[in-house]
Amino acid sequence: MTDTQRSWEKRLSTKPDELTVDYVESLSYDKRLYKYDIIGSIAHAAMLASQGLITQAEFLAIESGLAGIRDDIEAGRFEFDKAAEDIHMAVEGALIKRIGEPGEKLHTARSRNDQVATDIRLWMRDQIVTLQGGISHLQKTLVALAGQYVEDLMPAYTHMQRAQPIVIGAYLLSFVQQLERDVVRLGNCRNLLNFSPLGGGAIAGSTLAIDRKATAEALGFTDIVYNSIDAVSDRDFCAEFIFDCALIAAHLSRLAEDWIIFSSSEFSFVRIDDAFCTSSSMMPQKRNPDVLELMRGKTGTIYGALMGMLTILKAQPSGYNRDLQEDKLHVFSASDCISKSLEIAAAVVAHTSFRTKEIAAGLDAGFLDATALAEYLVRKGVPFRKAHGIVGSLVARCEKEGRSLSQLSVEEFQERSPAIAQDVYESLGAGNVVRRYMSAGAAGPEQVRRQLAFWEKRLAGNEPERR
Ligand code: ARG
Repeated sequence: MTDTQRSWEKRLSTKPDELTVDYVESLSYDKRLYKYDIIGSIAHAAMLASQGLITQAEFLAIESGLAGIRDDIEAGRFEFDKAAEDIHMAVEGALIKRIGEPGEKLHTARSRNDQVATDIRLWMRDQIVTLQGGISHLQKTLVALAGQYVEDLMPAYTHMQRAQPIVIGAYLLSFVQQLERDVVRLGNCRNLLNFSPLGGGAIAGSTLAIDRKATAEALGFTDIVYNSIDAVSDRDFCAEFIFDCALIAAHLSRLAEDWIIFSSSEFSFVRIDDAFCTSSSMMPQKRNPDVLELMRGKTGTIYGALMGMLTILKAQPSGYNRDLQEDKLHVFSASDCISKSLEIAAAVVAHTSFRTKEIAAGLDAGFLDATALAEYLVRKGVPFRKAHGIVGSLVARCEKEGRSLSQLSVEEFQERSPAIAQDVYESLGAGNVVRRYMSAGAAGPEQVRRQLAFWEKRLAGNEPERR
């Protein structure tokens, strides 16, 4: 470590203890920001040159020096020394070593406080686009699977009890819609974070004539963060980003939970390809949905990151405090976790099939057509509350006698309500019911066809309206 690399050490009487070096370093995890640190520095140096704070020749030396460092890092030639503390000092130190005095001018009117805030925002801006791509890919695989089951039925559950019949496609598209909100939510997060803190300096800006708007524009920010104190201390976007990851994780864990249940012998609704299952070390017959269980389990990791991030922000004094360095641990953890989960979720979806015959064979159980029967009575002029009671008592009778509603005769129906006629059978049975769904967004084949057309267009990028 050269003298210049640790200029602030001149303030201290001794070298830092080894324990301190170890404890304060963030290089081990913030080195992944190198690309953003370098483009931020190039934009800053260009601005310093156009403001006459450094010469054009010095700017060119800085620019090519930083490009060389980027090449070294990418070629694996760069030596990351934790004594440099973080990526900002590591890059600046290497630059000074490489080009000498012009390198010592780079940090003019800048602090690591605004530098790190800039780097994370730049990183997150790209990462959001990557995550949105991962979500879209998963949505497409769900849409493709839904397209295979436009007519095939399954029971829908509320309170985990059989509720109403639906087509399988409708069930699958419910996830596509949840995920769409995640895409939009991440986009909102991106819009809100896309303001430049660079030039906020340590906390109060600079007495030098820097041009913050110029660096903001060069780096593709919408504008600058106007208040320098907020510029260096704001990490709201980190909490928001992790929250968005947490909600994606919640959505994936609900799908995982469904399919873990659906793949049990008791349900036998889905078959997940062997490539996405594991077996037991002891029980030779086992085919376990471990991938889905981990997808559900990793939600805990991401929720933990969110709690960690929020806790860092709580009651922190204004301005930059070193606590903020821990932000990246949580942000990276949530981001890495969710991007892996999204990737494998898409693979699992693409390799899962529904056991339509087995599901269909069980559709008579659970009186899935009871609500449709009540609505049949409504069409005959019976008030819904009365209809609900009539059907309730018919179900009770059928349950006792081990029959389904469609097995009752017209005479038996009429004992409970004279409004029931021969045409009642058109409203009974799961297949009849799903075809009768009329309301927008209902879970029948008709509506699913319409939703599929919407999503196919939307996910191909041709439909700006979201649902
Ligand atoms: N590594 C630090 C972080 O991640 C950079 C800022 C440190 N600034 C300071 N004055 N100690 O937040």
